Amino acid sequence: MKYGFIGCGNMGGAVARALSQSTKDIAVSDRSGKAAALATELGIQYWDNAAIAAGCEIVFLCVKPHMMKDMLQPLQSVLAQRKPILVTMAAGLTLGQIEKFAGARLPVIRMMPNTPTAIGKGVIQYCCNELVSQEALQAWLRDMQPCGLLDPLEERLIDAASALSGSGPAYMYVFLEALADGAVACGIPRAKAMEYAAMTMAGAAEMYLQTHTHPGALKDAVCSPGGSTIAGIRALEQHGFRAAAMDCVMATFERNRELGKQ
Ligand SMILES: NC(=O)c1ccc[n+]([C@@H]2O[C@H](COP(=O)([O-])OP(=O)(O)OC[C@H]3O[C@@H](n4cnc5c(N)ncnc54)[C@H](OP(=O)(O)O)[C@@H]3O)[C@@H](O)[C@H]2O)c1
Repeated sequence: MKYGFIGCGNMGGAVARALSQSTKDIAVSDRSGKAAALATELGIQYWDNAAIAAGCEIVFLCVKPHMMKDMLQPLQSVLAQRKPILVTMAAGLTLGQIEKFAGARLPVIRMMPNTPTAIGKGVIQYCCNELVSQEALQAWLRDMQPCGLLDPLEERLIDAASALSGSGPAYMYVFLEALADGAVACGIPRAKAMEYAAMTMAGAAEMYLQTHTHPGALKDAVCSPGGSTIAGIRALEQHGFRAAAMDCVMATFERNRELGKQ
């Protein structure tokens, strides 16, 4: 099975990196030539868009949503003739829109990854149209295992999931940096502050994943009555932290929906 990646930036590159652990039968393309270095590093090939459309069985579409239509237009005739499986990761674009831009009825998988996919810690939701056979889907899922969690989800919920896990690493990095800034303000050296903040986030998340204890109960176990942690929690609540986190996901969701209106 030959895989192709049209566009190989932050997200396409992350998926190609993980997939290359399953197979080296991968070709990537872009406009600037930057992906050639990644291809060399991963031991895969660097082709152009037309060669990928003509020579791959599974073609990942990894350009920005507003570029998808123009990128697919010159490939329409070869796609209509060969009918490879297209895999889109574009925020907001539906399976139907991808078929429309490709100019033919053909098998399409829609996936919503996040950047930790590059290190096998990704969260990926996926759905597909009825032209993707069960056999092909299972083979794709097997090869995608090094990416992390792959979870099937109805298409109508993909934009919402994308607002949480697709964009989520960015929210986490803002929180991580802000926590570290607070520790630096209290006198901890920057490098140590970053390490402590990151390990604390990872450890707390891992504890939830292993126990599935409600986060409120896990928080209560850290907050002694009249203690210092509950004073910190009060500061978070006074600054509207929970509402800010909810608004963050909902604003991203709204923007995903706007991106799909093209
Ligand atoms: N970043 C994320 O965390 C994330 C998460 C979930 C989903 N996504 C989705 O992933 C897709 C890619 O996002 P990204 O963050 O990876 O963007 P990016 O870093 O800007 O990468 C875009 C890639 O597309 C290439 N490209 C643009 N037009 C092209 C064309 N006509 N032919 C071939 N290659 C072309 C660019 O090549 P040049 O550099 O050579 O121009 C670049 O390699 C988007 O649809 C986005 O919605 C991203």
